[in-house]
Amino acid sequence: MISAADPEPRRFSPLRMLVLHFRPRRVAEKTLRFTLTWGLGGMAAVLVCLQLFTGILLKFAYAPVPTQAYASLAHLQENFLFGQLVRSIHFWSANLLVVVVCLHGLRVFFTGGFHPPRRLNWVVGLSLLILVLASNLTGYLLPWDQLAYWATIICISMLEYIPVIGGRMQQIVLAGPQIGPATLRNFFAMHTAVFPVMIVMLMAFHFWRVRKAGGLVIPRSPAEASDDKPVLVPTYPNLLLREAALALATLAGVLILSLLCDAPLGQPANPGLSPNPTKAPWYFAGVQELLMHFNPGFALLIAAILTIAAFCLPYINYNNAPAGIWFVSVNGRRTARASAVAASVFLPLIILLDEYAVHIPAMPPGLPQAFSHGIVPIFLFIAVIICFYALIVRKFHASRLESVQAVFVFLAVGWVILTATCVIFRGEGMNLRWPF
Ligand code: HEM
Repeated sequence: MISAADPEPRRFSPLRMLVLHFRPRRVAEKTLRFTLTWGLGGMAAVLVCLQLFTGILLKFAYAPVPTQAYASLAHLQENFLFGQLVRSIHFWSANLLVVVVCLHGLRVFFTGGFHPPRRLNWVVGLSLLILVLASNLTGYLLPWDQLAYWATIICISMLEYIPVIGGRMQQIVLAGPQIGPATLRNFFAMHTAVFPVMIVMLMAFHFWRVRKAGGLVIPRSPAEASDDKPVLVPTYPNLLLREAALALATLAGVLILSLLCDAPLGQPANPGLSPNPTKAPWYFAGVQELLMHFNPGFALLIAAILTIAAFCLPYINYNNAPAGIWFVSVNGRRTARASAVAASVFLPLIILLDEYAVHIPAMPPGLPQAFSHGIVPIFLFIAVIICFYALIVRKFHASRLESVQAVFVFLAVGWVILTATCVIFRGEGMNLRWPF
């Protein structure tokens, strides 16, 4: 172990030079603790690499035209050595990437890794999340089977509800009046060229910003002064061996999953026969569920407001709040727990009430549906958030960061419940059903 004042060892090695382009020579010992990051950022990076590698292999077999796309993948699975496995690895790493990137974003938020000087990196990270979602969605259509075809239709039809520009956006995405060869060509180009290039470039910038901020946020107990010098240890072997082990574990996990469960390939797409129910891919199921309870335009407005709020989170003044501590403080932990419980109780209740009892359009009577189904719920939604924030401040004497964190937990748990409701509990006709 060496301190910040120790002279640097000067040894030339090309591999070391390459690695040190990405990593500093020394890192703070406290940031090596696994429970600070759970290795999620590194896992996401490994999954992106796996996506690129298997994606290049798939390109040798895939034909991006509706008449051949499905057959080319069936042929790959049946006749190519490891064809099924390569496809399954691509499928599972894509889905896991969404989960891992979301968990990484949550970890950054809950350990206060978004405060200055890491504010810009939060924004870069969220942009990466959007690109990962866009990349997944454009890849979803490529098999051209029933699931792919109709789930993409559901997603594209959501655009229609965006005021003023929605119709135009829909035409651009479809590249014509309806989903067809030009849509597949566009999705293929976006999925295999535009989004991968953007993700790789943004990832490089993301890693550089981590270095520029002096590494990861360092956990400090409340008693420690912020100008205490951290203990530093050499990056090799301390960090690099841990990262190599994590990368191998991630690869092994994806490989086992892909060997156990094949990537799905259903019946070929049939534009004349929609499956019942028709659902969006699971990562957009939360939006689909929201559309079922609100006027669609307002539901998308809520999703847009929440996205913009997420980008703005680091720019709120938190009065030198502590960083590097999970859930800020003991009180922060308590408020987060209370919010999670509140969301888990109230949201299912509201979904059930809207489905079976109150039915929001009928309330209040006499108003046109756009008002009763749209403006009323949106005001209700904003009022609930404000009241919830005020309640947390009053009841728990929470600081600004603790209260913002509580609202964040409420919305995040709410989002998970909306997603689970649509994916698990909606059956034929998109009616609620008991799945087990
Ligand atoms: C493809 C997606 C992403 C990749 C590959 C990635 C990768 C990484 C890696 C390797 C680190 C360093 C250590 C670690 O946490 O494991 C990191 C740190 C960071 N990431 Fe990401 N990330 C991604 C998406 C995101 C997202 C969605 C957010 C925010 C919502 C985000 C915000 C940050 C911030 C602020 C840091 C510095 C945190 C700290 O110092 O504690 N990243 N990222």
